[in-house]
Amino acid sequence: MSDYSLLILPGDGIGPEVMAEVRKVIDWFQTHRGMRFDVSEDLVGGAAYDRHGTPLADETMARAQQVDAVLLGAVGGPAYDNLDFSVKPERGLLRLRKEMDLFANLRPAQCFDALADFSSLKREIVAGLDILIVRELTSGVYFGEPRGITGEGDNRVGVNTQRYTTAEIRRVARAAFDLARKRSNKVCSMEKANVMESGILWREEVQWVRDYEYPEIELSHMYADNGAMQLVRNPRQFDVIVTDNLFGDLLSDAAAMLTGSLGMLPSASLGAPMANGRPKALYEPVHGSAPDIAGQDKANPIACILSFAMALRYSFAEAEAADDLEKAVEQVLADGVRTGDLMGPEGGTPVSTSEMGDAIIAALARS
Ligand code: NAD
Ligand code: IPM
Ligand code: MN
Repeated sequence: MSDYSLLILPGDGIGPEVMAEVRKVIDWFQTHRGMRFDVSEDLVGGAAYDRHGTPLADETMARAQQVDAVLLGAVGGPAYDNLDFSVKPERGLLRLRKEMDLFANLRPAQCFDALADFSSLKREIVAGLDILIVRELTSGVYFGEPRGITGEGDNRVGVNTQRYTTAEIRRVARAAFDLARKRSNKVCSMEKANVMESGILWREEVQWVRDYEYPEIELSHMYADNGAMQLVRNPRQFDVIVTDNLFGDLLSDAAAMLTGSLGMLPSASLGAPMANGRPKALYEPVHGSAPDIAGQDKANPIACILSFAMALRYSFAEAEAADDLEKAVEQVLADGVRTGDLMGPEGGTPVSTSEMGDAIIAALARS
């Protein structure tokens, strides 16, 4: 049995709290399934700024490039709001994504049956929902040049540039089509080709990849604003959605609420294959550092635990372990175990972060 190297970056706010529960899950797989993880831990975000004056030290960046997978909690928080933009906690995360070239961000949104009544939409709209948003993660308006704030006084200008190349669009389209092949061969691409040239290129190139390389895929195109509306109106019409960096950010938060809580959604950010054939990868919950509940042992650790399940699946080829972990989460929810964010209108007594982690371990032990 080979060792899997894993770099854990808990980050800020609820990041370390939810990551502590993932550590328990990792320990469980080591003890009970004979897996061997070579785990190292380091700082990112505000925690790294406090120690090193930068949200990601060069040594941490170098280590992230070497490991099989990085697992990140969350970054940011009000204590860092007034920092210079270049050292804000979020810059640490963006540097990891960019330098590891993690261009395909997989954000599944699945509505577990036990939570269908906790969604802000009606059960009949969300029950059985299982969609996958593939967000382009290393380009677009997040990274385009020119950017910055120029001018002075009452005459300042803030500039960001939406920019996509053919190659950037084609590679994320291929990632989405490959994933769709393992699901239902159906992809919807979202952009705003009606107002943006980058959207026209996006639409043409996604269609080109489909026509020349994936003829079996049923591809549709939708303007992203309509896509946002359709996600709320009838989300089950979608299977795989492929979209750019900014639209993917917004659409995945919206999709999160369909499932009951932002505290449920995991993500995988994948790059090109490494020498061992596995993709460069970073796994993280979709949610942030949740400053409003940080330090209170209230956060839902499921998004982070399911992010580790994605690592088992995509980085370590441990599909059975990933299935078992996902089933343990489903079981715990079916048993009625709920953190505060999963409380429905009828209320109830929420469990703490650590109690949720323990319940998932107990369900794993029964699997
Ligand atoms: P957020 O995701 O941190 O919180 C939004 C709301 O969802 C809050 O009410 C929070 O309590 C709740 N929530 C989020 N995760 C939860 C969980 N696991 N369990 C229970 N409730 C949960 O978003 P925000 O408030 O807009 O941002 C706070 C900070 O986090 C900002 O600095 C932002 O930049 C950062 N952020 C980081 C990431 C990341 O690290 N990937 C993602 C989003 C936001
Ligand atoms: C996310 C977050 C990040 C983003 C921030 C924290 C940089 O919102 O992962 O969704 O905008 O991509
Ligand atoms: Mn976001």
